[in-house]
Amino acid sequence: MEPTIDRREFVRLGACIGAVTALSLAVGCSSAETADPDDSAIETPSFEYGEETGMSKRVLVGYATRTGSTTGVAEAIGRTLSERGYAVHVKPLREKPSPGGYDAVVVGSAINGAAWLPEAIGWVESNTTVLGDIPTAVFCVHSMNGGGDEKQTRKRLAYLEKVRAAVTPAAEGFFLGKGPTADDSSLIARWAFKTFGGTAEGDARDWNKIKAWAESLDL
Ligand SMILES: Cc1cc2nc3c(=O)[nH]c(=O)nc-3n(C[C@H](O)[C@H](O)[C@H](O)COP(=O)(O)O)c2cc1C
Repeated sequence: MEPTIDRREFVRLGACIGAVTALSLAVGCSSAETADPDDSAIETPSFEYGEETGMSKRVLVGYATRTGSTTGVAEAIGRTLSERGYAVHVKPLREKPSPGGYDAVVVGSAINGAAWLPEAIGWVESNTTVLGDIPTAVFCVHSMNGGGDEKQTRKRLAYLEKVRAAVTPAAEGFFLGKGPTADDSSLIARWAFKTFGGTAEGDARDWNKIKAWAESLDL
């Protein structure tokens, strides 16, 4: 005889899965939420690339991160722009760099909770006047909704809703960052991650894609 479950058992099973998922996400999220930008143990270095000649355009690449993967993306963008002749400063947004004196800005953030990190959106909102006068390209580093179907594309594009309300981006880049791995996450956390649209497992940063985007920027 085939095993069957009645409606009540089905509902109970659904509730159990929901509770385990919520708990798993809560545990996974709490460590990142406590990683306030000011007391995060993650280093947020600055970099300078290219020479400042009287002729070269100056570009600020600002970034916000919680677990470090966006730092490498910002660094790769800065390096690529310098190869194109720009004088580039890569700076963490938690230090609130001034965009004054730059000819263009590239600004990006890790995605947490379907949006930019608070210090990144806060920085853009505090500098709308300057950013409105110079080309401002924006990027996201995320690990969910990386697919090409309609639903994931819509969710991915929505990551920048608040940003677009503050500035009109000259370009938008979406790059996969680092998703949970067997080394740093439980089986249930990885299962929940996939169930909720997780795309990147481990380090999924595509350096060729990131470089190509930086090469395409019209600043
Ligand atoms: C608490 C938390 C929430 C996250 N929320 C999302 C999300 O809503 N959408 C998404 O695509 N990725 C999400 N991610 C994945 C991160 O964006 C991804 O791991 C990224 O590489 C993190 O960048 P960082 O290392 O610079 O902090 C989340 C990660 C954490 C830890």
